[in-house]
Amino acid sequence: MRKIAVFTSGGDSPGMNACIRAVVRTAIYYNIEVLGIMNGYEGMINNDVIKLEASSVANIIQRGGTILKSSRSEEFRTVEGRKKAYDNIINNEIEGLICIGGNGTYTGAGIFYEEFGIPSIGVPGTIDNDLFGTDFTIGYDTALNTAMEAIDKIRDTADSHNRVFLVEVMGRDSGFIALAVGIAGGAEAILVPEDQKDEIKLYDIFTRNKGRKKSFSIIVVAEGEHGGAINAATKLKQKFPELDIKTTILGHIQRGGSPSARDRILSTRLGVSAVERLIEGGKNECVGMINNNIKFTSFKEAVERSKPLPDYILGMIDKLSV
Ligand code: F6P
Repeated sequence: MRKIAVFTSGGDSPGMNACIRAVVRTAIYYNIEVLGIMNGYEGMINNDVIKLEASSVANIIQRGGTILKSSRSEEFRTVEGRKKAYDNIINNEIEGLICIGGNGTYTGAGIFYEEFGIPSIGVPGTIDNDLFGTDFTIGYDTALNTAMEAIDKIRDTADSHNRVFLVEVMGRDSGFIALAVGIAGGAEAILVPEDQKDEIKLYDIFTRNKGRKKSFSIIVVAEGEHGGAINAATKLKQKFPELDIKTTILGHIQRGGSPSARDRILSTRLGVSAVERLIEGGKNECVGMINNNIKFTSFKEAVERSKPLPDYILGMIDKLSV
């Protein structure tokens, strides 16, 4: 393999830069030229491509976001868009692709391989941690720490004013962030998209706590299914009008910031392994870390199978909210 390209796609996540650095430096170590495709699949369609040297990725390991920019491309969903992308790949003499992103990125990469046969290795980059084939995704740990620090601050004011705070965290279709942040932030209850009964459990907690000296509570709500924290707060207020309820939506602050040590190490290991897999002839698959070992899963399987939530956490939350 003489020339490969790397790109980031979908929602950015802290650690993507550390992964780009690992990909570029590993490829150069093996005497492979590396191009960076800007803006994900959009850049592939528009031939927005830059050459990356070892020095291009200096001083980025600690930076959030992605130096290659990112997007969610509608045009790449069309056959015409993918054909334009393929022509650019051929014209640039790119022999292999490393794509860093989430479910949508993997879906695109799988279809692109099936249609045009360009070897492609995916690296799991999303704060949501909702990808099958890896225990952890790049950016998840940093997002958890960001959300936990925010909850610690909310806790101070919740305590001072005896208030109930519903804090909304990211995770469009999955509750990984909510569950972990709920534990780390000492939440009374956690509402996740995967559990339709959790609102009832929430009301049980407040019924149980009536007349007891519980001055304040933190409830973590995953965006999405329950209509978010505002909707859940409105319903809670209807049932318990005596409560002083506030909501905070943490939003995109969870996507930014300097990656944690854990994310930098994960990004680096996955980036190195992705390049080595391409060299060994890997194609149409993604790299992941399972029980601290590097594992590869086909794009098809990664996209079709869902990673189960660690439901022991919900059991723990019930015990801890007594
Ligand atoms: O997939 C990552 C994620 O941050 C989700 O948690 C969230 O729902 C979504 O991206 C937000 O996407 P956007 O930044 O395009 O609004």
